Parts: sequence; C-alpha cells; structure tokens
Amino acid sequence: MKGLVLSGGTGSRLRPITYTSAKQLVPIANKPILFYGLESLARAGVVEVAVVVGDTAPEVIAALGDGSAFGLKLTYLHQSAPLGLAHCVRIAAEYLGDDDFVMYLGDNFILNGVEQFIQSFRERDASVAAQILLAKVSDPQRFGVAVLDESGRVTKLIEKPKSPPSDLALVGVYLFDKSIHAAVNAIDPSSRGELEITDALDWLLDRGANVRSAIVEGYWKDLGEPEALLDGNRLALDGVEPSLKGTVDSASRVEGRVSIDEGAAIVNSLVRGPAIIGAGTRVVDSFIGPYTSVGPGCEILQSEIEYSIVLADSHVHDIVRLEGSILGKGVRVTRRKVRPSASRLVIGDNSVVEIHRS
Ligand code: G1P
Repeated sequence: MKGLVLSGGTGSRLRPITYTSAKQLVPIANKPILFYGLESLARAGVVEVAVVVGDTAPEVIAALGDGSAFGLKLTYLHQSAPLGLAHCVRIAAEYLGDDDFVMYLGDNFILNGVEQFIQSFRERDASVAAQILLAKVSDPQRFGVAVLDESGRVTKLIEKPKSPPSDLALVGVYLFDKSIHAAVNAIDPSSRGELEITDALDWLLDRGANVRSAIVEGYWKDLGEPEALLDGNRLALDGVEPSLKGTVDSASRVEGRVSIDEGAAIVNSLVRGPAIIGAGTRVVDSFIGPYTSVGPGCEILQSEIEYSIVLADSHVHDIVRLEGSILGKGVRVTRRKVRPSASRLVIGDNSVVEIHRS
C-alpha cells in the first residue's frame, strides 16, 4: 500500500495566513495540520508516500524533507496548476504502478486517524475496488456527496451538488486499487475546470465497480477556513500531552491540560488548559484561556487570550482580550497610549479586524 498526499492548492479561504504559508502547514496545537495525516499513515504501516506539491513546494519540502522524521520515504510530484484531485492521480500514475494506495488531502484533519480505515481495505474481499470515508454534514453542497442504497452500498457520487441528494459528504481520504487509473483518464473536467476524483469514482460505479463506504468515527474537518481552523485547534489541544519543559514562577498558575515547551516562561500569569505555549515564549502578567495555542518565540504581556491561535514570533501587549482570533507570524498587537485616541492599523491584504466597542 502506497500513499498519495495532496499538498498543493492556494488556501484562498485562509488568507492572509496563507499568503506566507501553505495551508497544510498552518499549525493546530503548534503542529502543522499535514503532520497529523502523515503520522497516521506511518502508524498504519504505509511507508512509501508521494506528496503532490504546487506553488508552495519549497516550503512543504523544507518542512517534510525525505520523510524519515515520520518513518516515511517521501517522493515529491509537482503539479503545475491546481487541476483537480483526479489530475493528481494522473500525475502519480507511474509512481503508484499497480499498487493499492491511500489518497489523503493534506488539509483534512481526522482526529482518530485513518489506521482502521486502511486496515479494513487491506482485509477487503477482492471485489472491492475502492473505499471512501463519509461524514454527515449540515452543508453537503460544499462537498462531494454520496447516495447509498438500503444495504449501505454506494450507488452514486456527485461533486458539490446544488440540491444534495443526501447529507453524506466525502471526507478527504480515499482508498483505491489500480482500477482508478482508467477512471481518471476517462473523465472530463467539471464546471469548475477540475478533474474531480468524485467523477472518477462515479465512473467506476457506472461500470459496476464495488465502492465500499465507511462513516467516519469521531471528529473530521477540512481546515480550509478560519472557523474550522479554530475548531480543529480545539480538538487537537484536547489530545496534547501535558508537559512542563519551561518555567512557571511562584506567582503563576497552570490549570488543566497544558504543555509548556523548552525555554518558555510563565510569569505572574494564569494558563488554563487545554493550551500549548511554544518554545521560548514569554507570558507575563497575562491570562491564556482554554483552547489557545501560542507558537514559539512569542511575547504575551498584560493580555488575555482565549480560544485562539497565535503563530510564531508574535507580540501581544496590553490587550484585554482576544477571543476566536488567529494571529499570523511576527504579528504585533499593542495598545496605543498617545493622542489621538484612535486605532492605528498596518495589516495585510484580506485581513479581518473586528474591534470591540468599549
Ligand atoms: C474536495 C473534494 C470533495 C471532498 C472534499 C473534502 O473538495 O472535491 O469531494 O468532499 O475535498 O475535503 P475541495 O476541497 O476541492 O473543495
């Protein structure tokens, strides 16, 4: 079993964060989203994995290297333009050969991992050509949608239907045998100009193929937009191992599930978990509330932050309080003490600032 991990795309719904970072490398609980998927593949015993990269290739390659840190052997395949998931399979045809493979969308976060799902495909009977993961969603028109018959067998798959025939969305993890290659070569681009893996699977169904489905147990989300990212961060923090590698002074309190990394200092502050404080970060005279990830090299002074993600090297000074916020790398948020009493903003394109009326 090989792996095909997709890590291209523009991440437009996560701008401005994704102007300077591949969306798959945005961290939740201080770890890039993509790492969770790769770790799960490694635990499932998958070793050879091709990563499809696009414009953000240098950053993705720098973060993953040869894969040995994950116990994987990585190969990079370049996609010149985001022409669809089935196009990625076309690009990977030579690499994959006749092997079974798991295709994993790098922006999908599956809390319980995919080990069981992969194992059940290994143990399938020979008639099964593909296996998909489904999840009940409230907005199926945003996804590929599956129709099942009374026995639970997949009969039809439609990409982003205007009137969804069910609320079962395709999760971004698929298992295929070699028959998918003929399908991705047979289909035409969709109305959004992409070769859809959903159409390739539907092509197989039309020809009588047995496509098995499983409902995802536990939490799943594609972390393509800010609300989802914060929600994913919340869930990932619930799984963080509490640890204290930095220092906490006697005037501070640390409550609940909290990880404080090397060289971090908590001074006269309250950190209420689940939370993670990155290496070398200083938290002084502040409150870090539940479901907050503060990256490495940050300074949080006289401030209160809850249910938020603060990326590396950012400074928050004298701000009470931030909630539901995502701060990029090297951001400075401070209070202005000189006249006129107005806010002064230097913010990038597509930023969102909601100033609380007080
Ligand atoms: C893609 C697939 C869609 C699937 C979704 C899961 O959508 O085309 O069928 O439900 O991933 O994340 P996209 O992210 O391209 O909108």
